[in-house]
Amino acid sequence: MPQLSVIVPTFNETDNVVELRDRVAAALDGIDWEMIFVDDDSPDGTARALRAMAQADRRVRCIQRVGRRGLSTACIEGMLASSAPFVAVIDADLQHDERLLPKMLETLEREPLDVVVGSRYVERGGIGDWDASRAAVSRLATRLAHLVLKADLKDPMSGFFMIRHDAFLACVRAGMSGVGFKILLDLFATSPTLLRFKELPYEFRNRAAGESKLDSNVAWEFFVMLLDKLTHGVVPIRFIAFSLVGGLGLVVHLAVLTLLYKVEATSFLWAQAGATLVAMTFNYVLNNVLTYRDLRLRGWAFVRGWFSFVLACGVGAIANVGVAVYLYQFDSRWLSSALAGVLVGAVWNYAVTAVYTWKAPKAA
Ligand code: GDD
Ligand code: MN
Repeated sequence: MPQLSVIVPTFNETDNVVELRDRVAAALDGIDWEMIFVDDDSPDGTARALRAMAQADRRVRCIQRVGRRGLSTACIEGMLASSAPFVAVIDADLQHDERLLPKMLETLEREPLDVVVGSRYVERGGIGDWDASRAAVSRLATRLAHLVLKADLKDPMSGFFMIRHDAFLACVRAGMSGVGFKILLDLFATSPTLLRFKELPYEFRNRAAGESKLDSNVAWEFFVMLLDKLTHGVVPIRFIAFSLVGGLGLVVHLAVLTLLYKVEATSFLWAQAGATLVAMTFNYVLNNVLTYRDLRLRGWAFVRGWFSFVLACGVGAIANVGVAVYLYQFDSRWLSSALAGVLVGAVWNYAVTAVYTWKAPKAA
């Protein structure tokens, strides 16, 4: 039975997977290991390449997910499929230094630890030749991460680590967010016990083939996960995202209103109506690409979705005003009445559009 499972999330990594297996095999010579690749049905046919490799090498397996996306959930499912006492997560693109794996395993076996992290931010570690802006973003994200982190981890954003399987399972049971890229941060922020850890330095390498999937959406997902952890998972993740978008929508509303009412001298009624429609459309588009990225509507479904969204939010606005006016009658505290109205409206909009606008596909 393997002592170590190496989990590799892949999306469009055909040109890297064989080389990675060869390098991992060389590094882990003398150790009983297996590799579990988790591929999200990459259009470049990574899963086909993985199956071909698995046909010739029993140590390799491929979990293929269809209609799903996500680095973190891929890693979680790969780790759940492992029966080894230790699991490592490493990127497929050869940017993480696989030669660190034996030392990680040895450290984890020898010392009373739960996690060993491949770290770019301890002495002798490094970020390779990232440009100044990506380095700055990474540092900022690291600082933000400490808001939810219970540990003094120098590189909580690392995607390269090894963990005891039982410690991992405890985190999954405690409710990991599973959003976005930051699986290690998710583990640390979720673990019911303080994870005992050690950081080992490595130098982040350049990508050899293929391209990074890190985009602005990853930054968004990072904020959503931070909020999820700060609210201790009490509020549904999608509601958090929905409310953030709603906040931006308010800014848009006020901007359009000012433009129409003050600059264009439109009547207040029309200015307010126009601003409402623009803000609703803005919210719809943003929710479609961010909050409901996985259920994104396109083509005619997009148009139909817009109608149902505007309809639902129109009713939400009536509920909002109704509740606020009703409360205001009892004691004339306008601010708390208004906020209560906004909250009711937001919950209504969220609940109705979740069911009618973005219908989750029926579980297979
Ligand atoms: N299954 C699956 N699904 N895999 C994915 C997905 C997805 O939606 N998105 C990305 N991957 C895989 C990639 O194929 C690659 O193997 C790995 O996850 C990392 O993706 P990259 O796009 O190369 O990310 P990066 O290099 O910008 O950032 C990585 O390194 C950082 C430093 O350690 C990530 O691991 C970050 O989380 C990490 O902070
Ligand atoms: Mn990468």
